[in-house]
Amino acid sequence: MFFSFEGIDGSGKSTQARRLADAVRRLGREVVEVREPGGTDLGERIRALLLDPEAAVHPHAELLLFSAARAQLVADVIEPALERGATVIADRFYDSSTAYQGGGRQLAAPQWMTRLHRFATAGRSPDRTYLIDVPLAVAASRRAGRDADRMESGGTAFYTRVRDAYLALSTEARIQVLDGTESADDIHQAIWSDAKSLLEV
Ligand code: ADP
Ligand code: TYD
Repeated sequence: MFFSFEGIDGSGKSTQARRLADAVRRLGREVVEVREPGGTDLGERIRALLLDPEAAVHPHAELLLFSAARAQLVADVIEPALERGATVIADRFYDSSTAYQGGGRQLAAPQWMTRLHRFATAGRSPDRTYLIDVPLAVAASRRAGRDADRMESGGTAFYTRVRDAYLALSTEARIQVLDGTESADDIHQAIWSDAKSLLEV
């Protein structure tokens, strides 16, 4: 089973990914946690390039680099884990590119983007995606104190487009939207009751 978590920076998705991973491990099952970009030697190097506040990265290059990191992660980590029956929990997957590069950077029409994702992932899609939705101000206050990386310097208009692009995806059956302003415990309970049925617990 393959779960992914999505949301704007500071939405609380890493907290929820970790909590789901802990809950699945308590069942005695193998869990593989991955984060994007990263998770492989190549991916971590690409991550450093993409998040460096000093780097000049053209939006087209940005989309292709995120996709390149994802292709390596799918081939080296995600597919082997799924093949041996592990549960994979991804902190971001291709919906992040749809939201940040497609929406935020206003890059590509959805059909074109979908084909790029299919190519990068060799057709692998999450079985379930939890989209943690919060107003921009809530996310910004949760990020306070963290050093802003290059992607986080986009400003309010950028993040508004990212959030809207995420919400536009929520018509897909795979994607469940959760109100990220609720307590971390309540959000986890909602996720866990859904995940349990997928995991046939
Ligand atoms: P993200 O991965 O989306 O950037 P994190 O999970 O790292 O977000 O959470 C950002 C901050 O918000 C952390 O300090 C975390 O403890 C806090 N946080 C996470 N979920 C909640 C929540 N539901 N309510 C209040 N604070 C939260
Ligand atoms: P990260 O530090 O992992 O942020 P977070 O903890 O909020 O997930 O940084 C990843 C950044 O890269 C984040 O701002 C979202 C952005 N991103 C994209 O723009 N496109 C993508 O395809 C991915 C995977 C991430």
